[in-house]
Amino acid sequence: MRTQKIDPLFKVLGPRYTSEYFRNEAEELGKELAREGIVVFNDFLSEKAISALKREADFLKPKAYRSSSAYNLYVKPTDPDFPEDSPRNRMFRTTKGCIPNDLLPQVSLLRFIYNSPIVRSFLCKLLKVSVLYPYADALSSININYYDRGDALQWHFDNADFAITLLVKQPIKGGVYQYFTDMRTKNGVEDYEYARKCIDGEVCPQEKSLREGGLMIFRGNQSLHRVTEVEEGERVLITFNFNTKPDVSLSENSRQTFFGRTK
Ligand SMILES: [Fe+2]
Repeated sequence: MRTQKIDPLFKVLGPRYTSEYFRNEAEELGKELAREGIVVFNDFLSEKAISALKREADFLKPKAYRSSSAYNLYVKPTDPDFPEDSPRNRMFRTTKGCIPNDLLPQVSLLRFIYNSPIVRSFLCKLLKVSVLYPYADALSSININYYDRGDALQWHFDNADFAITLLVKQPIKGGVYQYFTDMRTKNGVEDYEYARKCIDGEVCPQEKSLREGGLMIFRGNQSLHRVTEVEEGERVLITFNFNTKPDVSLSENSRQTFFGRTK
């Protein structure tokens, strides 16, 4: 009798995520991502795996680099053609702690998930790309982000086409993910007036509540998004960072800002 070998990945995923799931659901989920700009996989990890990740995140936290960065919605240099308080140039501040990729243990569960060929091929199908590459620098591929009380990720558009995150710890109060879907441009140009309405609270953002162990894929370059201030507890979020081209590094400036070093 032949016994079928089960990939060890399925021991760390929630019971819903089987090889059949990855085979059968990718196309429909890809359509959902294209339509909604966001797809959430609740209970992506098993209870045991979440506990292990919490322990790993707690253990590494004393080594996290605390950053405070200021930027405008577009994460671009100020445009002198616009006033300082215009939506183009208005400044926001994000504070958080971060563990860069090179401080993760070699046997980390995070590396195992990030490098899994099953996960990688599923993500490729969802994102409609042929290959996903890790960052060429040693710091940027997998990051653990810590938002303590008073920390927030303020309004911005991402530079990257997509973001893949895994929630490890949900704060007790605050730390809510908010976004406005697909609103960046109007007739092919930046819609500054709508962006102003968003940041001035004249239109209501959508909110996505993710449970611990949940994975989220988000197209953040066309959608303003933020995480509100953590009021109680802590928010710990993994970012799995990929490129669609090989040999791409995060800019030296961003590495210095978020990791406190460039290598
Ligand atoms: Fe973002």
